[in-house]
Amino acid sequence: MKKIAILFILMVSVLLISCQQESYSTEKQDKRNYQSDHKKEPEIVEVNAEVEEETDEEEMSEQDTANESEQTDDTVEQEEDGLKVIDDPKSVELVVNKQRKLPDGYEPDDLVEANVSYYAAEGDPKRLLRQVAANALEELFQAAETDGLDLVAVSGYRSYQRQKQIYENNVATKGQEHADKFSAKPGTSEHQTGLAMDVASAALVAVLEQSFIETDEGKWLEENAHKHGFIIRYPEGKEDITGYSYEPWHLRYVGEDMATEIYQAQTTLEEYFGLYP
Ligand code: DAL
Ligand code: ZN
Repeated sequence: MKKIAILFILMVSVLLISCQQESYSTEKQDKRNYQSDHKKEPEIVEVNAEVEEETDEEEMSEQDTANESEQTDDTVEQEEDGLKVIDDPKSVELVVNKQRKLPDGYEPDDLVEANVSYYAAEGDPKRLLRQVAANALEELFQAAETDGLDLVAVSGYRSYQRQKQIYENNVATKGQEHADKFSAKPGTSEHQTGLAMDVASAALVAVLEQSFIETDEGKWLEENAHKHGFIIRYPEGKEDITGYSYEPWHLRYVGEDMATEIYQAQTTLEEYFGLYP
């Protein structure tokens, strides 16, 4: 009987010890899981970051596709004189060219003067740009000044009527063929959008010639305009696509992201949207 009692006590003790070990190892396991979960945390964040990046990219390419179809949709909506009529002239991403005109009577409603050096006298509408482009122009000119360059804003906003005068004058003095290489017909000029500015070097002010690219200012603009949301709208070698001769002075505001993509791909607004003449 005594033996049985001792055996019973022994069995109970073994059982208790093994239970304790079990709970200790579960605790240890929990701790390990906790630690490894915590170790994993940055990994999870990283993975999420990657996913987010991918999503951003997806969104960007969706956006691109949307822009493309937006621009393409316009083209089927309305036509006038064989030209597509842009249905969203207030978009900073719009494409105005020899195939795509602004709606009749279009005038931007947020034209302002930028705080930069101008060639034209105070009060001249040439000094105007849409607010968003004027802000960007100020930043661009500031950056140029910091780099020791001297830019002058020559010609920004033009009304339909003003563009008509310029175009007709060019046709009368230089002939239609030559005029069409440099001058847009009224209703098809980016200057009417308030998003374009012709700029010059202060040393060669008002000389809007291709030799502008040989000046420090011209070279600087070619490499830096995109950082502030502008593209050189009519690049060299792309005349068949844009429809115009090389204009190293004509800046068009499209926003920083698009300008950077266009700059990096060395492409044009038409190519960016898959629009060809
Ligand atoms: N020089 C550009 C093409 C314009 O007249 O709008
Ligand atoms: Zn221009």
